[in-house]
This record gives sequence, structure tokens and C-alpha cells, in this order.
Amino acid sequence: MSTRTDIFGCPVSLSADGDLEAWNNTQLGFLAHAAVTPEHLGQTIASDADFALPLICKGLFSLLLGRRELVETALQAERDARAAIARRAISPREQVFLDALADWNAGSLVQAGNRLDRLARDMPHDALAMKLVQAIRFVLGDAKGMRSSIEAIIPHVSEDHVAFGYIKGCHAFTLEETGEYALAERIGREGVLHSPDDAWGLHAVAHVYDMTNNTTTGIDWLANRESAWSHCNNFRYHVWWHLALMHLDRNEIDAVLNLYDSHIRADKTDDYRDISNAASLLSRLELDGINVGNRWEELADISENRVEDGCLAFADLHYMLSLVGGDRKDAASRLISRMRMDAKQEAGEMAQIMKHPGLSAAEGLEAFGEGNFTAAFRHLAGARDAMQTVGGSHAQRDVFERLTIEAAIRGGYFDAAERFLIGRTDRRAGHEDRFASLRLQELARQRAISANNLGEALIPAE
Ligand SMILES: [Fe+2]
Repeated sequence: MSTRTDIFGCPVSLSADGDLEAWNNTQLGFLAHAAVTPEHLGQTIASDADFALPLICKGLFSLLLGRRELVETALQAERDARAAIARRAISPREQVFLDALADWNAGSLVQAGNRLDRLARDMPHDALAMKLVQAIRFVLGDAKGMRSSIEAIIPHVSEDHVAFGYIKGCHAFTLEETGEYALAERIGREGVLHSPDDAWGLHAVAHVYDMTNNTTTGIDWLANRESAWSHCNNFRYHVWWHLALMHLDRNEIDAVLNLYDSHIRADKTDDYRDISNAASLLSRLELDGINVGNRWEELADISENRVEDGCLAFADLHYMLSLVGGDRKDAASRLISRMRMDAKQEAGEMAQIMKHPGLSAAEGLEAFGEGNFTAAFRHLAGARDAMQTVGGSHAQRDVFERLTIEAAIRGGYFDAAERFLIGRTDRRAGHEDRFASLRLQELARQRAISANNLGEALIPAE
């Protein structure tokens, strides 16, 4: 069989009758977080049952969804791919994707990412490998690994590469997550010019404006570019979430709740990323003293059904936020028991993350919900240094940082609260947001009350 070449210039073991356009659209769709990607993937598989790579991608894409019931789908995809390979041999490049799927199916996400990273460095024009490395290391919270991977690729791709804008968008996100805000903004804006449907790159720039407390520019950046993310799968809810965060920083609560109801939770999906957008936004609102009505209820209902999931600590912690928000004490306690069991396993990358920081963070969230701020602070502060390993972005994990700081203030750990607030602002290149300035004011007020009480206690009784 003669080898065919895909849109990135990579050789593919697709038959002469196989649908190359569908395969190219699958890859471009994956880069653009497009809702139609599974359709193109299915079309490719239907056109050539012996072409193993889309079956492998089906497995990897399923695992990226972080759902227990899709673990078997990914295992079946690996079996199907091996059966296809028995009928038609694959190239060494395609073998790397299969090995990465096997790594992840066996529990090693790190190895899967490293393997694909080596491929991406060997074949810098392979944008599928590039994006998978970014996606996998994002789940691992490995921002430095994401950046080093993309920066090894960039010198070898030129503007005529069809994925050039997406590659720049990925670079922008890694720059933002590693604190290079000005460069991230410039590269991200350039990327969107090359690939106007690159929602990831567009949202990387929104991250910059969030971290640098530049909400005016951030709202303007997102407000007129809905076309850049309207084609997206549930990632579009996440872009709306970013817009809501900026309105929250401006204390524009009506706008936040309107975005929540009309976009972020317009569809009551149970994808963990959608739950995380919603739960973290409601938590932030409540920390600001806003009554969110009955909005927790549907999140708590869904989260009760995910108590046994355990695919990702990041997902579990947002289910926990929802259970606490919806006052589902029994389910919260079941979730912690399950995490405790997971953490007892000797081996496995996720077991290690469940053990630390996952379990401690979950116990902290539960204690916070019970109003036990001493315990909440101790658990959350104990998890804090390792929280990056639960994955996601700084903006996503900030809800846990906010709760830790709030627990410190309410629990009387004023020095720790101040230290964490200063560290949080340092990570934002010195830009103090509304959350930080309000907490510093509250801290000063609480310290004055404590000093006053101490003074009164020292005055001898007449
Ligand atoms: Fe984001």
C-alpha cells in the first residue's frame, strides 16, 4: 500500500479509498476544540476500518474526557487499533501514538506525554502530536513541560504550516502559565490572526488579562470575538467562564449571573470541565457574599453521580465543591472515603495525586463547608504547595487558593493569609485584583479587632 500524506505533511497508513479529508478535519478540529471533531473521526474510521490511527485517537480523546465509564472505551479502542494493525502494519510514527495510548491505559499519563513529546520534537510539523502533548501535560498541571515541548517545535515550523496559528496559541498559553505575560499576549494575538478559530489561543490571551487584572482589555478582547469560539465543543463554556471572571473582578454581579445562566450552565452537562467552570464561579461568588440562589442544586445532583469516578483529582475536587455548595454531606463524605481508598494504593500516578494533595484539599473543602475554618485552613494549606499537580490552569486552581486564604482569615491565621495573598499577587506580576485588596482590608480589620480585644483583656478589672 502506498503511503499517503496528511495536511501536516505526516505519512499516514490510510488506504487509497480512505477519507483523507475527514482525517485532516479530525486533526484540525482537535486543534480548534471543534464540536464536529467526533463526527470527522467517525467518518474516518468508517471510511477505512484498517486505519489504526483514528482508533488510537478515539482512545486518547476518550481518556482526555476524564470519565470512569470511558476507561473501557479507551481500552476497547486500543484493542480495536491492535486488530487493525494486525490487518495493516503502521508506521513508526503511528506506533508512538499507540504506545502512548497503552501507557495511559496502563495508568502512566506522564509516560504517554513524554513519549509523544519525543515524537513532536522529532517531527515538529506533526501538530497532532504537539496538541496531544499540550492536552496531556495540561491534565498533569505541567506548565513547564508544556512550554519546553512547544518551544522545541517552534523554531522548526514556518508561517506556511497550516497549524501555525494553533501552534502560536499553544505557545501563548504556556507563556502565560509560566508568568511571561507580555510575551504571551503578543504571541497569542499573533496566533489568532493566523487561525481566527483558535479558541485556545484566544483564551490564552484572556488568561493574561485575568492574571494581570486588566479586565477592561480582557472584556473587550472576548466581547467581539464570539465567532472564534462558537464552533467549539464544551470548551466554549470555558471561554464564557473567563469573561464572567473578568466581570466578577469588576464587581459586575448581574453580568456574571447572566453569563452563568445564559451560557456557562445553559446546558446542564456533566462533563467535569463544565462542572469545574460552574462550581468555581459559584464558590467565588459566595466568597464575595453573593446569594447564588438554587444554582448549586443541579451541580450537586450531577456530582452525587460522580462520587465513584476517581479518574482525576481535579474533577473530584470540583465535585466536592458542588456537594459542599449543595449541602450534600453524605455524598461529600462518600467522596472523601473513596479518595482515601484510592490514596492507599501503592502504585499509580493518580493514586499519588489523590494521596497528596487531593485528599487533604477535599477534606479542607468539606471542613470549609461545615464552617470549621481551623480544620479547613490546616487541610487546604497542607495541600497548597502541591496543588499544581491536580492539573488545570492557575485561573482554575485559584478557587482553591481563594478558599485557603479565606479559611486562614476566618480561622485566625492572619500571618499565613497575608503571606498567601502576597504570593498570589506576586504570581500576577504584582497586579492586585479585587479579591486580594478586599481580603487585605478584611485582614487589617480582623487584626485591629484582635488587638482591641487583647487590649481590653489587659485592662485590669475595677
Ligand atoms: Fe482557561
